[in-house]
Amino acid sequence: MSDVKQTIAVIGGTGGLGSALAFRWGQAGYKIIIGSRNAEKALLSAAKLNERLGRTSASGLSNRDAANAAGIIVLTVPFSNHKAIVEEIMEAAQGKIVVDTTVPLVPPKVSRVQLPEGGSVAKLAQERLGKNVRLVSAFQTVAAASLAKNKPLEGDVLVCGNNVEARTSVISLVEATGLKGWHAGPIDNSVVSESLTPVLIFLNKRYEMGHSGIRIVGN
Ligand SMILES: NC(=O)c1ccc[n+]([C@@H]2O[C@H](COP(=O)([O-])OP(=O)(O)OC[C@H]3O[C@@H](n4cnc5c(N)ncnc54)[C@H](OP(=O)(O)O)[C@@H]3O)[C@@H](O)[C@H]2O)c1
Repeated sequence: MSDVKQTIAVIGGTGGLGSALAFRWGQAGYKIIIGSRNAEKALLSAAKLNERLGRTSASGLSNRDAANAAGIIVLTVPFSNHKAIVEEIMEAAQGKIVVDTTVPLVPPKVSRVQLPEGGSVAKLAQERLGKNVRLVSAFQTVAAASLAKNKPLEGDVLVCGNNVEARTSVISLVEATGLKGWHAGPIDNSVVSESLTPVLIFLNKRYEMGHSGIRIVGN
């Protein structure tokens, strides 16, 4: 990624993961547009973020307007509404990088892998959005609650996508949060990241851990 930081639209940025990522990226000097189904809610969320950051880094718009106005679009919406939101931002996303954080969790069994038909949310999103969109999957294994704290983070992030430059750009976004990003191959590999989250939720319960994450080691 060049030195000029692109504006990031965080679709669903009023929620847990989106607001936490927006906080980290705001701290790192990115301009953020919080997207919401309700533009007023987005404005309120942006105002809260600016107050926390102590400067004006964020604005708020409807999801579609946010996607139109930004260079990079990050999806942080529940799996249950992912398809509809992808369709809403489809036109705005053409020619851009879209980062998909979605885990196909199907409550109440959130500690069980339940992949969608077609295998992976991110792969389906790439197919729906088309080849002009560089879809990159990331952040599935990072807990929003950890990102939301104003503390250094530990852990790694698998970054999957068919376009190497887009993956490199997203690795810069991962590093801006304080985590380490890894090129983890094409979008087909996102099935692994999406499957890890239910396992981490299981570990959190089984071992009474706050928020487990992943680390790649080389021995
Ligand atoms: N939370 C985590 O720790 C975490 C970690 C890794 C990955 N993820 C993934 O990140 C995505 C967002 O997770 P989250 O915990 O941030 O979710 P969340 O807080 O429940 O929802 C995020 C936002 O999505 C929007 N939204 C759109 N359609 C919705 C619907 N039908 N019902 C509820 N909200 C809807 C809402 O914004 P508006 O009402 O403003 O539109 C909401 O604030 C999920 O796909 C999740 O799997 C989460």
